[in-house]
Amino acid sequence: MDKKIRTSVPAKVILFGEHFVVYGKQALATAINRRLTVEVSSKEKKGYHVKIENIPTFGLEMDLELGKEVGNEKGKALLYKDYDIATKAIAYVRESIRYLEEKYGIGDEGVEIEIKSQIPLSAGLGSSAATCVATIAALKEFFGVGGDLEAITEDAHSVELTVQGAASPVDTAISTYGGYVSVDKGGVKRLQLAELNFIVGCVGSIPLSMGMDVKKFSEMNLKTKKIVGDVKARKEMFKSIFDYICAASDEITAQAIRAIEDEDFVKLGVLMNINHGLLDAIGVVPRRLSELVKMSQALDALGAKVTGAGGLDEMGGVGSVLVLPGESGDRIKTAMEIAGALVMDVKTGGKGLRIDTVF
Ligand code: MEV
Repeated sequence: MDKKIRTSVPAKVILFGEHFVVYGKQALATAINRRLTVEVSSKEKKGYHVKIENIPTFGLEMDLELGKEVGNEKGKALLYKDYDIATKAIAYVRESIRYLEEKYGIGDEGVEIEIKSQIPLSAGLGSSAATCVATIAALKEFFGVGGDLEAITEDAHSVELTVQGAASPVDTAISTYGGYVSVDKGGVKRLQLAELNFIVGCVGSIPLSMGMDVKKFSEMNLKTKKIVGDVKARKEMFKSIFDYICAASDEITAQAIRAIEDEDFVKLGVLMNINHGLLDAIGVVPRRLSELVKMSQALDALGAKVTGAGGLDEMGGVGSVLVLPGESGDRIKTAMEIAGALVMDVKTGGKGLRIDTVF
């Protein structure tokens, strides 16, 4: 087989309803104009050779031996930077391959997988789901076992569940379909809403030189799992209070969708601020993300909130905030940069999965 399959998928931001979606409440998410690309081609030697580059913070190259621990003396790895973070992306690639071998019987020949990404890791921007969707779609196309979008998003969601324990279908749906999706207990619905401009500020991982040890880096792989678990424990302890908070979040998402339809950005911004307050109440806002939100609000943003899973102080406050900037975008971006955040202008509603055959 001489052909090469190239797939590309968008990053996502959750605009409203993260965490509460795990309990069946409505969330609204959108694709943004940052993408991850996977290329699959054949190679002479049997097995999978995986090369990951350009993901902000690391790159690596290795021969994958499924069923064996990555990074031990049996897995041949060429490290560019920050190997421990790299194991996160590799975990999703490995599980995608294992899942497809089991479900569709793919494999048994040499495969080269090359991943390039503009999506920061552990930032709540859907890098894990993007890796799963793009890798699964590329391998399925390469082995001729189907390009049906619904099946791809379900396959990718299964892989996410295996690797991280708990996950709603929000991230994999957005990577697959692009645009906007609403998710609640009734499932995933695609919505037609206008394009919006936001600022995303990411608190990245702390460099090793600043005293964060290797063990912490490995724990970061499980950040979403840990935060979702902590929220669940608090919910069980304060069930009646959480019921009110969950109901409030559900109503916020419904009103936010109407505000976007009505182009009422002042209202949309206030709803973001309220949503942020609820996320703080359930304990997913670490100090560094809180500061970025407060600073943006003080600089006259229309609205600001944590997006995605949020973060934990003991994991360096790694995560992202989403800001609806109004007139003061430049000042907000400068202030966030001075505070040490990675800052991006993003457009919502980006295109979903693309599958191309390159000869
Ligand atoms: C993570 O991007 C969003 C959460 O709501 C978890 C999930 O939906 O799987 C925190």
